[in-house]
Amino acid sequence: MAESYEELHKEEQLKKVRIIRDNLIIKPSDKLLDVGSGTGFYLNKFPCKVFAIDPSKELLKQNKYPHKQASAENIPFTDNAFDIVISVTAIHNFDDIEKGLKEMKRVGKQQFALSILKRSEKFKQIEKLIKKHFNITKIIEEEKDVIYIAKKTLN
Ligand SMILES: C[S@@+](CC[C@H](N)C(=O)[O-])C[C@H]1O[C@@H](n2cnc3c(N)ncnc32)[C@H](O)[C@@H]1O
Repeated sequence: MAESYEELHKEEQLKKVRIIRDNLIIKPSDKLLDVGSGTGFYLNKFPCKVFAIDPSKELLKQNKYPHKQASAENIPFTDNAFDIVISVTAIHNFDDIEKGLKEMKRVGKQQFALSILKRSEKFKQIEKLIKKHFNITKIIEEEKDVIYIAKKTLN
């Protein structure tokens, strides 16, 4: 399962990741956290320091970037620890979507990129929660996902 996922979805995930990268302002010294990274095979596309979290031990075994086993609902980092927080086609899998989004906001300082699977039955709910908790600066619709580029709101 872990092996076949990457084969099946590599190109489509890379397309999303390139859009995310091109819509962020990234400095080499920036720290980027990928929440729900899975294997994180695309993390070399980001020209900065990357870190990944995912609850799946199996997927993390194949993740060659710095990582921790953790879920979005309990991110094991201090407030404002990362300049950039991204999540690529993972939010629909969170057990508690609002808690996960609040945690991402807590550990992020400024830039966020959240890519949401359009065909998820939770799409509307996720979109509403992103609008509640973030300042959206750009919405990009690609083939499979809608990508929200966002900043932190004060609340
Ligand atoms: C469709 S995969 C996407 C993986 C990777 N971002 C990619 O684009 O290849 C969804 C990921 O969400 C992760 N996931 C499931 N529940 C999660 C949670 N509560 N917090 C964070 N990630 C979670 C899964 O383990 C899986 O790696």
